[in-house]
Amino acid sequence: MNILKKKSFKELFKKYSVIEEKTEIDIVLEDQYKKAYELLEDAETSQLTPILVGPPGVGKTLLCRYYAQKHKKPFYWLTMDESTKPVHLIGGFDPAIAIKEGFSVNSYVPGPLVNAMLEGGYFLANELNRSTEYAQNTFLEPLEERSIYIPRLGRIKANDEFFMICSMNPAELSGTHRISEALKDRIKVWIPLKYPNKSTELKIIRANCPESDIPEDMLESIYQIIHRTRLDSDVEQPASIRAGIAIARLASLQAKKNGEYSNRALSFASKHVLFGSIKARPGVRSEDVSNKIIKSILGV
Ligand SMILES: Nc1ncnc2c1ncn2[C@@H]1O[C@H](COP(=O)(O)OP(=O)(O)O)[C@@H](O)[C@H]1O
Ligand SMILES: [Mg+2]
Repeated sequence: MNILKKKSFKELFKKYSVIEEKTEIDIVLEDQYKKAYELLEDAETSQLTPILVGPPGVGKTLLCRYYAQKHKKPFYWLTMDESTKPVHLIGGFDPAIAIKEGFSVNSYVPGPLVNAMLEGGYFLANELNRSTEYAQNTFLEPLEERSIYIPRLGRIKANDEFFMICSMNPAELSGTHRISEALKDRIKVWIPLKYPNKSTELKIIRANCPESDIPEDMLESIYQIIHRTRLDSDVEQPASIRAGIAIARLASLQAKKNGEYSNRALSFASKHVLFGSIKARPGVRSEDVSNKIIKSILGV
C-alpha cells in the first residue's frame, strides 16, 4: 500500500525558507525599461521621489526589485490597498512582549518603511493609489524631513541611503483612490511605463519561457492576439504581458503533447488564458470578445 507520508510544517518551513533573494533577477532591460531604470538612478542621485505609472503587469514591480538588486541595497515593499494602515508601514508593539517588558524598542516590531529608513535601503510603495489618504499621510514626514515619528518610542532620522520609490496604476482604472495633493506635491519624478513595443514584448515572452523553443510565427500570432486586445474598443482591461507569457507556456505544452505546434492548439491556449485575463466593456462578454479576436487572427 502506498501511504503518503506528510512532512511536518516545521520541516517544510525550514526547507523552503527564503533568507534573502539569492536568485539573479532576469529582466529585459531595453527601450522604456532602460529609460525608466536610468531615471530611477537620476531621481535617487538628486534625492527626488519617483513614481512608476502604468497598467497592471507592465513590469513596474519587477523593475524596482531589479534596481535594488543591482544597487545591492536592502529592499522592502508593501502592496497597498484600502485596508492598509500606518501600522503596516511603520510597525507596532508585540502585545505579548509589551505586557512583559512595556513599550520599548525590545517589544517593537518595525514595519517595512522603518526598516528601509534605518538600514538605508529602498522602500517601494506598490500601488500607492489603492490606499487611502490616511495611509498615504504616513509618507509625508519621511519624504519631507527624512524622519518619522514612532508612537511611544520617538522620532527617528532616516539613514542617508534611504530611498523611496512609488508605483501606481493609471488613476482612471477603477478600484483606486487618488493620490492626495499633499503627497503628490512630494513626488517629483513621474515615469510612465506602457505596454512595450513589439520586439521588446517578444523578448520578454521568450525570456519567460526558457524551456521551450517557440517558433517565430507562433510568437508573432501570440503578439497579434494580445496586441489586438489593447486596440479593441470592446475591451476595457486588455491582456497584460503576463497573459502573453501564459499563452506561450500553455501553447508550447500543448505542442509537446500533440507533437507539433498548430493554430488549433494556440487557439485553445489563448482562449483559456484570455477568458479571465481581459475585461470587456459593460454589456459585452469577455469570452465573446476574446473568441472573436482569436478567430480573426488564427482562423480557429
Ligand atoms: N522588462 C521585463 N523583462 C522581463 N520580464 C518582464 C519585464 N516586464 C514585465 N515582465 C514580466 O511581466 C510580469 C509582470 O510584471 P510586474 O512587475 O509584476 O508588473 P506590474 O508591477 O507592473 O503589475 C513579470 O513577472 C515578468 O514575468
Ligand atoms: Mg506590481
